[in-house]
Amino acid sequence: MSKQIEVLSDSNRLIQRSLELVLEKLKQAITERDVATIALSGGSTPKPLYAALAQQDLPWEKLQIFWGDERYVPHDHPDSNARMARQAWLDQVPIPAANIHPIPTDETDPATAAARYDRELREFFNLNRSEIPHIDVMLLGMGDDGHTASLFPHTDALQVCDRLVTVGNKDGQPRITMTVPIINESRNILFIVAGENKQAALAQIFAPDPDTSIYPASLIHPEYGELWWLLDQAAGANLPPS
Ligand code: 6PG
Repeated sequence: MSKQIEVLSDSNRLIQRSLELVLEKLKQAITERDVATIALSGGSTPKPLYAALAQQDLPWEKLQIFWGDERYVPHDHPDSNARMARQAWLDQVPIPAANIHPIPTDETDPATAAARYDRELREFFNLNRSEIPHIDVMLLGMGDDGHTASLFPHTDALQVCDRLVTVGNKDGQPRITMTVPIINESRNILFIVAGENKQAALAQIFAPDPDTSIYPASLIHPEYGELWWLLDQAAGANLPPS
């Protein structure tokens, strides 16, 4: 596992650097396997990255789009991660509809939706029950509490290791999230983190032996892939020397 930390001068440079790296890894995957799989993160930070990706000239039919997590709301809800990515990027490019795999949020029981997405991933990657897919690009953000995807502090989702997808919990609100094992099997994990409000959690996550139940992003270290932390100056200002 290789771990790279880059602190970029401002949020614009952060997005430009993120775009460069995402394009590099997607093109590498297409060269090697004629397909590139990417799992998107939600929140606000990646939105300009998605808008920049919409301006690129990529072989869109070779991209397969997944999500690392989703709020448990309809896909047309303002809080939907799928809605944000479609509006910023996916609706602007000729990617086949069949290549876009949003997390289902239309089941009464979120656990049923999580199981459906788990099945969809296994079917797409042609896996048996015990296998874990290698997603080419796993985009992740980090909350100021140190969560990532919808793996929130002190929640059961942090311990789920027998499934690819589970139900997360944010202040009692259900989320659907990829689990730590599938994230850590990715070929390239890219954290994109911006803002002064992330400094405290980053300092904890980059300290020796962080408490993973309090700072779930510290659970993320790929088995054999690349781990990239791309930070803007506001977020990365006071990191301990690596
Ligand atoms: C979500 C995300 C979540 C997000 C962080 C950071 O569904 O909200 O996947 O993990 O990446 O909360 O969010 P910001 O980019 O808005 O700070």
